Amino acid sequence: MTFKTKILCIGAGYVGGPTMTMIARKCPTYKVTVVDINKARIDAWNSDNIPIYEPGLDEVVKAARGKNLFFSTDVDQAIREADIIFVSVNTPTKTFGEGAGRAPDLQYWEKTARQILANSDSSKIIVEKSTLPVRTAEAMERILNGNPKGIEFEVLSNPEFLAEGSAIQDLENPDRVLVGSRETPSGLAARKALVDIYAHWVPKEKIIESNVWSAELSKLAANAFLAQRISSINSISALCEKTEADVGEVSYAIGMDSRIGPKFLKASVGFGGSCFQKDILNLVYICESYGLHEVADYWESVVRMNQWQQKRFVQNILTGMFRTVAGKRIALLGFAFKADTGDTRESPAISVALGLLEEKAQVVVSDPKALENAKKDLAGAEVIYEEDPYKAADGAHAIAILTEWKLYKELDYAKIFKSMKQPAFIFDGRNILDHKKLFEMGFNVFAIGKAALKHF
Ligand code: UDX
Ligand code: UDX
Repeated sequence: MTFKTKILCIGAGYVGGPTMTMIARKCPTYKVTVVDINKARIDAWNSDNIPIYEPGLDEVVKAARGKNLFFSTDVDQAIREADIIFVSVNTPTKTFGEGAGRAPDLQYWEKTARQILANSDSSKIIVEKSTLPVRTAEAMERILNGNPKGIEFEVLSNPEFLAEGSAIQDLENPDRVLVGSRETPSGLAARKALVDIYAHWVPKEKIIESNVWSAELSKLAANAFLAQRISSINSISALCEKTEADVGEVSYAIGMDSRIGPKFLKASVGFGGSCFQKDILNLVYICESYGLHEVADYWESVVRMNQWQQKRFVQNILTGMFRTVAGKRIALLGFAFKADTGDTRESPAISVALGLLEEKAQVVVSDPKALENAKKDLAGAEVIYEEDPYKAADGAHAIAILTEWKLYKELDYAKIFKSMKQPAFIFDGRNILDHKKLFEMGFNVFAIGKAALKHF
């Protein structure tokens, strides 16, 4: 079959993989190739065991793979034949040099731009899918367009808003798709080519067009606003624990105000994931580099509140359990940064586990999908890994719920209570359990933003 347009995506991760799979599925006349330098990851995409857990993804990959969706490690060849290249390589927070701990590490992005240039002999559209600092497109244009080959590249920003665990749903029915480009004739033509792809399934009124800088900044701002809501309610949760207000009731009451809205107001042990912290720090760094210190400080407090919330959770375990957890078995139920994913990047479970280990607790980690990642995150630490929650809790002094997996709501807690050391404690870092019922069973129950239910 000859294809109308050839699309390439560089980076077969949590964003590149599902996004390209959906484009392939919805645009059968387009050839979609996804490449990655990580051969094991590409082999996995080509196998029955795709490398990321995402509800519903498996079926969509199988339906398109080999027809118009291809996974490969031959980056150079794929660049040569592509008309449109999405770049979805990772942009972690820099760990060295200028801006360490805040600025994004753009080395993979730049290397990718140079590789695109080296292997292109025709003009192409380059689409930023990775979250990038504002004005990255400009730097990319400089690298790409300063070439003696006489070919031209249009750099577009098309940030991805999917959330892990609901990626397929978010891609299939997005709140909006954002396409930013230069407002020159060639920029507008490239914009149209990209809009045409999404128009295969996304209603026109949900496809927003903007200049390229607005698109870049909107992604950072959207994540910062979402994270800010969580830090805001988490700050209130600390106050609830002191005043006997219940954060669930407060959250419900304020969320009913249509100006505030009910979403992203769930108090928790803290937010995790690859994006929120990184993108806020990114925003902080840009603000600082423009001398906007107050703005930087304002957004940085969202991250500080999140780190404090995680520390506070460990502190609550410690004080709740008579100020010592040394030698006590504590079962952590859930390690993923949220339910329905095996991803543990920036998961609050990491800092909770490390905090408990520092207090010399015997930590047992349980999770239905994230144990392999947990082992990498806690490499070198003395931790027990046990997928079965009943076995994890067996003989434990305490259970801490760290991920809101549905299966943890449905456990037989009466059975668990009997298998635990007494007095038995539950720390619900996600507020998913029936606290009153657990208390009546005999547990001492500590939830986020609620007065503790104790038998002593
Ligand atoms: C993406 C974006 O890249 C990030 O900026 C955004 O904020 C979140 O989504 P994600 O898909 O989650 O990140 O990252 P990851 O799963 O790490 O995938 C990136 C892939 O790019 C990796 O598989 C990596 O091997 C690949 N890569 C990296 C390349 O193929 N080439 C490189 O030069 C660098
Ligand atoms: C986020 C954005 O939602 C998405 O649009 C963007 O593209 C990438 O970053 P993701 O990180 O996959 O997506 O997950 P999200 O559902 O936003 O959850 C992030 C963290 O916040 C999780 O740890 C989650 O448990 C936590 N959270 C979320 C809360 O603690 N309370 C809430 O009310 C909502």
